[in-house]
Amino acid sequence: MTLKEVQEKLGRLRAEISYHDYRYYVLDNPVISDAQYDSLMQELVKLEKQYPELITPDSPSMRVSGQPREGFTTLSHRLPMLSLANALSEGELLDFDRRVRTSLLNEKVEYVVELKVDGLAVSLWYEDGILERGATRGDGFTGEDITPNLKTIRSIPLRLQKSVPFLEVRGEAYMTKETFLKQNLDRAEAGESAFANPRNAAAGSLRQLDPAITASRKLNIFIYGLGDYKGIDFATHAQSLNFLKEAGFPVSKDFRLFNDIEEVMEHCRWWEKQRFNLPYTIDGLVVKVNSLVQQKRLGATLKSPRWAIAYKFPAEQSQTKIKDIIIKVGRTGVLTPTAVLEPVHLAGTTVTRATLHNEDMIKEKDIRIEDRVLVHKAGEIIPEVLEVLKTERRGTEEPFVMPAKCPVCQAKVIRLAGEAARRCTNLTCPARQREGLIHFVSRGAMDIAGLGQATIDNLLKIKLISDVADLYYLKFDDLVSLERMGPKSAQNLLAAIEKSKSNPLKRLVFALGIIHVGERASGILAERFGSMECLMKASFEELVTIPEIGPKIASSITAFFDLEQNRRLIAKLARSGVKMGEEPTEKEEEVKPLLNKTFVVTGTLKNFTRDQVQEIIHKLGGRVTSGVSKNIDYILVGEEPGSKYTKALTLGIPVLREDEFLNLIKI
Ligand code: IVH
Repeated sequence: MTLKEVQEKLGRLRAEISYHDYRYYVLDNPVISDAQYDSLMQELVKLEKQYPELITPDSPSMRVSGQPREGFTTLSHRLPMLSLANALSEGELLDFDRRVRTSLLNEKVEYVVELKVDGLAVSLWYEDGILERGATRGDGFTGEDITPNLKTIRSIPLRLQKSVPFLEVRGEAYMTKETFLKQNLDRAEAGESAFANPRNAAAGSLRQLDPAITASRKLNIFIYGLGDYKGIDFATHAQSLNFLKEAGFPVSKDFRLFNDIEEVMEHCRWWEKQRFNLPYTIDGLVVKVNSLVQQKRLGATLKSPRWAIAYKFPAEQSQTKIKDIIIKVGRTGVLTPTAVLEPVHLAGTTVTRATLHNEDMIKEKDIRIEDRVLVHKAGEIIPEVLEVLKTERRGTEEPFVMPAKCPVCQAKVIRLAGEAARRCTNLTCPARQREGLIHFVSRGAMDIAGLGQATIDNLLKIKLISDVADLYYLKFDDLVSLERMGPKSAQNLLAAIEKSKSNPLKRLVFALGIIHVGERASGILAERFGSMECLMKASFEELVTIPEIGPKIASSITAFFDLEQNRRLIAKLARSGVKMGEEPTEKEEEVKPLLNKTFVVTGTLKNFTRDQVQEIIHKLGGRVTSGVSKNIDYILVGEEPGSKYTKALTLGIPVLREDEFLNLIKI
């Protein structure tokens, strides 16, 4: 292929992948399978590997790239990002309408009503249709530049589907309730404190110096309006929303037009009840004057526009009594205290349990058995004790003490430095085994259909299994004798177990349940090492050179494989025929020309940033380290190299100039 042909091919692949991202993440209506998508992406990445100089910032492969930054830089908003005044009752909505109509001399006013998603306000700038900058609201005048983090949100277009010289849009980045719930479960297992609600989770995730962490948090966004723009014009806000939708932005489909405030109020009442059925949390509705001319005439105060108001729902809270506090033991041994409540109706369901997170929270809120408490649902899903109604105490309530022994296996319980959680120290604790098995067979992990919790409990009870590897040694006769298991389901289950043996390595790595190693990190590790054997041998130093693997993940991985028991488990899995990844084949070496080569980079490169060159070396199978030693294969030297270059020369390490490096990677 000529360079021009390559460029055209890259352009076609990028457009096609962007289109499928749009179908999947914005329209929620994909038209190709995940496997077809993966193969397009692989084709793009492969071609970009061969021609790294042709990588563009709007390439879908660049959604996550780069190393953690050292700090955020601030940037000025072109137009201030105002906030909204609140209406806390229908009376205050009527007041708003009266003010609007009086200012507009009783002209007819049309309102747009939108959902007020509870997340973090952000601004995105597009120059000539390409996403250039993304920022937080900050103080409304200056925000933080979080462009790489925002690029990880797959519903944000990197290139617009409309031609506009300049466009700034504003929206709310958020986390769905389901992701929030899952994140908190993972955090509890990792001994980390829980996010209080999806808004905090979204804000914390976007303000990460490492975009890989943002990517792992699976954020989403709704765009709800324009900032500054050039070359386009609209008469109404609704028109601008439709334009934004056509330009490829995720605009909520739940915006509606109304002719008067009575209709608006009716709509608010409807959402007040329906809101719990949404997959994300909303804390109210936003009512906006539709005509942009009228908006302009109404203007703004220093803080908020006069043409819009947030109708806030009252927070859902109820009172109940704590009947008991029980302890659950999770897959990594974390002990989670849970309050057993007198049943109470809350945010759409009847609640009988509330998480107490950890002992610090119990102490801080001084929660005791028999206390009357105020409860709410964090993120509308996780029932939580807000506060103890201390005036209702009778004096007989005793402070709660966390057990010093595991309530399931009686083993010693420890609290590691810097962790909020206590953990059971027994690796073979039955509770840990059970939760570990449930995780191992779950979707995303080994995905063994037909192996539910009840079957796992049965198998454990009659001691047919005690660890995850035992699943692969089960026989038809073992299964068919279980309660509620006929010959047909036993056959199907055996087939599902057999099928899972050939799962890709990334699933197996995730299924092992290594603390801090989620689905994304598992994928990265599997791609980087190719086999369980290589992953097990990886040192801490080697692991931390991988762009998205930080010291916390790296030390958790090495600690996991240092344990004899875990190594034995993996050997047992391998003996049963579970696929442990691929051994590097010759073909792979062909596409990984830098396989096992170690590089040091010094000086300024013409074609790449440091992050980019590091990424390329990693993708082609090599490593980058910072210290020059005899073990280095090459030193890659740019303009004005530093002392590393001199040291490399004295050690006789092969020197690569940038053009030589380009030649090397185009093999
Ligand atoms: S309009 C000048 N529309 O609510 C008008 N805001 O204080 C600016 N929010 O954090 C806001 N959904 O990000 C608008 N449909 C929506 C919204 C929305 C959520 C957030 C906004 C900001 C807060 C307003």
